[in-house]
Amino acid sequence: MFGELSPIDRAKFAAASRAADLVEDGMRVGLGTGSTAAWLIHCLGERVQEEGLQFQGVPTSRQTAALAVAAGIPLTTLDGPRWLDLTIDGADEFDRQMNLIKGGGGALLQEKIVATASERMVVIADIAKEVDTLGAFPLAVEVIPFGRAMTQALIEEILVGVDVLGREVTTRMHDGRPYRTEGGNFILDLHLGRIGNARQLALLLNQVPGLVENGLFIDICDQVVIGFGDGRVEVRDVHSGGVEIGRVEIAETGNLFID
Ligand code: 5RP
Repeated sequence: MFGELSPIDRAKFAAASRAADLVEDGMRVGLGTGSTAAWLIHCLGERVQEEGLQFQGVPTSRQTAALAVAAGIPLTTLDGPRWLDLTIDGADEFDRQMNLIKGGGGALLQEKIVATASERMVVIADIAKEVDTLGAFPLAVEVIPFGRAMTQALIEEILVGVDVLGREVTTRMHDGRPYRTEGGNFILDLHLGRIGNARQLALLLNQVPGLVENGLFIDICDQVVIGFGDGRVEVRDVHSGGVEIGRVEIAETGNLFID
């Protein structure tokens, strides 16, 4: 069974397993979307079953909600009386400042809302997600259907004036049709290659009226838990600059979520 997991899946599992230990009784926890988040939910479900861990999860997608329910994790919403204690989510890229590109799974809007509503946001990622400069992974932006061609034109105009390598904008497709988010919106993928000033770009993009949110997460992440294929885990803290090295035992579990 262990042999069925690719090195990347083992790395994702390692990061998810270590991050699952951060959840404590009574917490309200944002649950991210994607294959690494699926491992997290698996690990949290084990803690619920085996240790009686009691917490509530706020899912960032229907897919995550279904996984959490199947794992026995009680769900709640953001409409509670207080901030979430913690959000744990994957990322498509993270840089040395722990700024992120997210949105590969199309859930960037809910993910940014939940992460921003949390006391602490922890990213779980395999080491392959680390980059010197963000931008090799296409930057997702969510746009509303109304006036979407004009919204795209405004985005293209913004890209002319910023420090990026590429400027191609494509509509994300799924099964031969434009992909729709859970909010009924479209995703445009910006193929930028390299983003010279991610903070500036994030601010500029969010000034376009039909653009709901962009996949740059700037100053949102507090910690990155990085997994390696051999079970090593590195926890980096953005505030203290501290790095903790550890190792998790990789469970003999079949793959949960094929990329
Ligand atoms: C979904 C996301 C995911 O966190 C991101 O795409 C990483 O996914 P994975 O863990 O499958 O590599 O942002 O919108």
